[in-house]
Amino acid sequence: MIESKTLTALAGKNVLITGTTGFVGKVVLEKLLRSVPDIGKIYLLVRGNRSYPTAEKRFANEIAQSSIFETLKSEDAQLFQARCDEHLRFVSGEMTEKNFGLSESEFQELAGNIDIIVNSAASVNFREPLDQALKINTLCLNNMIALSQAGGDLPIVQVSTCYVNGYNKGVMEEDNVIPAGQPVERSEFGYFEVEPLIELLQSKVQEVVASTNDDEQREKKLVDLGIAEANRYGWNDTYTFTKWMGEQLLMKAMYGKTLTILRPSIVESTLEGPVPGWIEGVKVADAIILAYAREKVNFFPGKREGIIDIIPADLVSNSIILSAAEALLDPYQQRIYQCSSSEANPIRLKDVIGHVQAEAEEKHEVHDRLFIRKPQKSFMMIPSPVFNTVMTVGYHAIKVGFKLLEALGREPSSRMLSNLEATRKLSIVFSFYTSPSYTFSNAKLLALAKRMGEYDAKEFPVDSSQYDWGMYLRKVHIPGLNRYALKPRRVYKLKKTTIEQQQSQAA
Ligand SMILES: NC(=O)c1ccc[n+]([C@@H]2O[C@H](COP(=O)([O-])OP(=O)(O)OC[C@H]3O[C@@H](n4cnc5c(N)ncnc54)[C@H](OP(=O)(O)O)[C@@H]3O)[C@@H](O)[C@H]2O)c1
Repeated sequence: MIESKTLTALAGKNVLITGTTGFVGKVVLEKLLRSVPDIGKIYLLVRGNRSYPTAEKRFANEIAQSSIFETLKSEDAQLFQARCDEHLRFVSGEMTEKNFGLSESEFQELAGNIDIIVNSAASVNFREPLDQALKINTLCLNNMIALSQAGGDLPIVQVSTCYVNGYNKGVMEEDNVIPAGQPVERSEFGYFEVEPLIELLQSKVQEVVASTNDDEQREKKLVDLGIAEANRYGWNDTYTFTKWMGEQLLMKAMYGKTLTILRPSIVESTLEGPVPGWIEGVKVADAIILAYAREKVNFFPGKREGIIDIIPADLVSNSIILSAAEALLDPYQQRIYQCSSSEANPIRLKDVIGHVQAEAEEKHEVHDRLFIRKPQKSFMMIPSPVFNTVMTVGYHAIKVGFKLLEALGREPSSRMLSNLEATRKLSIVFSFYTSPSYTFSNAKLLALAKRMGEYDAKEFPVDSSQYDWGMYLRKVHIPGLNRYALKPRRVYKLKKTTIEQQQSQAA
């Protein structure tokens, strides 16, 4: 007989999950369907969109069609369908609206039907307009709290981010974060009183909204406002600032109740399950890898010696599942876990670059969606002040070059300028993450995994010390990025068409 605290805790339990149309949410859903067969119902809270107006339609067309379910389908397609029919329930709802836009009775019925809430939905756009980021990353947690209360204080597992640690430096513990900038009042219970801050931010949003009728101008101003306010209070961007405020609202309202805040670092492709390398979308580190592979960027601001924190997505989903199981087994506690690698298995940025470059040089043809060809230049990580000088000089030199060519009656090539522009844009968004000043402790998460026992340690691994980075980056992540996140390039299609034409001519 299997002895698993996680399976026991989740058996027959009904779980509401948000964010399953997204990257992390899909990995959690797949793992629950694959490895927790006795779970009760899984309620998917999904908003409708233009193509698919209901949660059920989005599940059928966007979630179930995802390649993450290929393993389950290929093992037994009928069983996969049967599991979906048995376990999945769909709730069409907009998280930012009161009661998620459901009627009062529908909301109460939903609360009565579930045992635990897992909130993975968020805007992960680092530079979201402040009003939007506040809605989805901060204020909508009040709707989650209302659901918890309506269900008799249901436990909440909130997926946050290690980067709520903002501009702090050193070793970041699995604890509440003190703002590194302008102080915010702290209650004697440990959380920060963010309501006055939220009101202040909302009044600043209103000022901006009233200042212009031009939609584009307004959006740009709200993006700038978000960044300025985040910087003032001690965060690099609007995303992490609003996620931190969300944590505070939860900690206050759920004081004495069951709350787990689970903070992943930079989530990358799965290490093992359901397949090594599964990933969706091109985010953070991958945006830079892709720009390098496409020969748009070959230098970037950052600390070569800095320890970057990357974590495979299946370790994150397992951490979420263990957290949920623990919350059900041992309620009425607030916990914070960091799902991270920088303490347990540190890797320096220069070594990430080394592995990516080695793979590019030796295997670029294998990863043909990612690499156009063998990159002609090596990738350089340079200190920010040097980067700024290079950019200024670079723009100036290109301008002078353009003028000279025009004077000679020749067409200047815009490639260098567009590459410089690509580098500048990426650096605005990501340079904070390539200049790390801290590491994230995951000791409490590892202790949780130990408490859950041997079976769970194997079935739901969370330990980031258990793999080699060279193996992960070269054998798992780059092939995964190439296979799952990128579509065949047009050049590739052209090449294929030419081959097909040649074949038919030959025939
Ligand atoms: N990816 C990372 O590297 C990373 C790192 C650390 C922490 N995290 C955290 O992990 C969680 C999941 O991130 P992810 O990478 O999976 O993000 P993602 O792929 O962008 O997915 C975001 C999800 O949130 C949903 N959502 C956004 N606004 C919503 C709204 N108003 N109502 C209902 N649903 C809404 C999206 O639904 P729609 O499809 O309807 O937009 C989508 O399902 C987030 O909480 C994030 O902060 C992620």
